[in-house]
Amino acid sequence: MADVLLHAEDLGKTYGAVAKTVALTAVSFDLQGGEFASIIGQSGSGKSTLLNLIGLLDTPTTGRVVLNGHDTAAASRKQRATLRNDFIGFVFQFHYLLPEFSVLENVLMPGRIAGVSVADLRPRAEEVLALLGLEGLEGKGANDLSGGQKQRVAIARALMNRPALLLADEPTGNLDTVNTKAVYELFRKLNRELGTAFMIVTHDRSVAQQTDRILEVQDGRLLQDVRNSYIEAGPAAEAEPERGPAAGDVVPDEEPALEPETSSVEPPPSV
Ligand SMILES: Nc1ncnc2c1ncn2[C@@H]1O[C@H](COP(=O)(O)OP(=O)(O)OP(=O)(O)O)[C@@H](O)[C@H]1O
Ligand SMILES: [Mg+2]
Repeated sequence: MADVLLHAEDLGKTYGAVAKTVALTAVSFDLQGGEFASIIGQSGSGKSTLLNLIGLLDTPTTGRVVLNGHDTAAASRKQRATLRNDFIGFVFQFHYLLPEFSVLENVLMPGRIAGVSVADLRPRAEEVLALLGLEGLEGKGANDLSGGQKQRVAIARALMNRPALLLADEPTGNLDTVNTKAVYELFRKLNRELGTAFMIVTHDRSVAQQTDRILEVQDGRLLQDVRNSYIEAGPAAEAEPERGPAAGDVVPDEEPALEPETSSVEPPPSV
């Protein structure tokens, strides 16, 4: 088993000093290196809050995040930024590309801001652009791309630092079904070929069913954390012997299995 990449322990987040909103309560889980997981839940359930905490974009009110063995609880803002930069890539619903700049400039931008030279960044940029099928578009203005291409550039930018973990918040929320499928196929490919771990926030169960593990958040709590037996179509899947669904399998087009993955998952409160 791969090492624990991310350890989330008793994470809680309350927003506001006067009018308080409890957005997250006692969320605990471990993510191993190379896992391909999704976070699902209704609007307002706390998905983005959770992603922002594990991505060190925000600090928890309770609990702690340990990233690749680094306990971030007592880390300074600068130390958290360094850890984020070293281990995490982000992809959001809106690509946040700089419209006045070319594809290449957008991909180089975080490295440039960090003070790295174009000459040092360029080989990696060309590598990731090729990986994402964007070769030939380097000089094109970001504004002149299709929605799907823009999101692929945003993914390329997120991969520049070879992150061990890619966090995506509704990455296809703005895309049509064809581009949505393309992005998920790309994520799978990156997971397989680079070993990048993924945590993908979505409220689309059909998307979640294409991931290997589903964490469901409800009212700020981790309602369930299940293994999903998604098998990719392809030679490996064809070699798989025929068998009926086993306990814990998620049969396509059905709801995720309800078997808890870890003992840290609390049962939903009885009403
Ligand atoms: N900065 C903030 N200040 C105050 N309350 C907030 C803030 N951010 C989120 N919340 C509240 O915390 C709760 C969880 O919000 P969050 O954005 O995590 O939900 P979500 O599951 O990502 O929803 P969506 O699917 O709509 O994106 C909501 O009640 C929301 O209103
Ligand atoms: Mg959200």
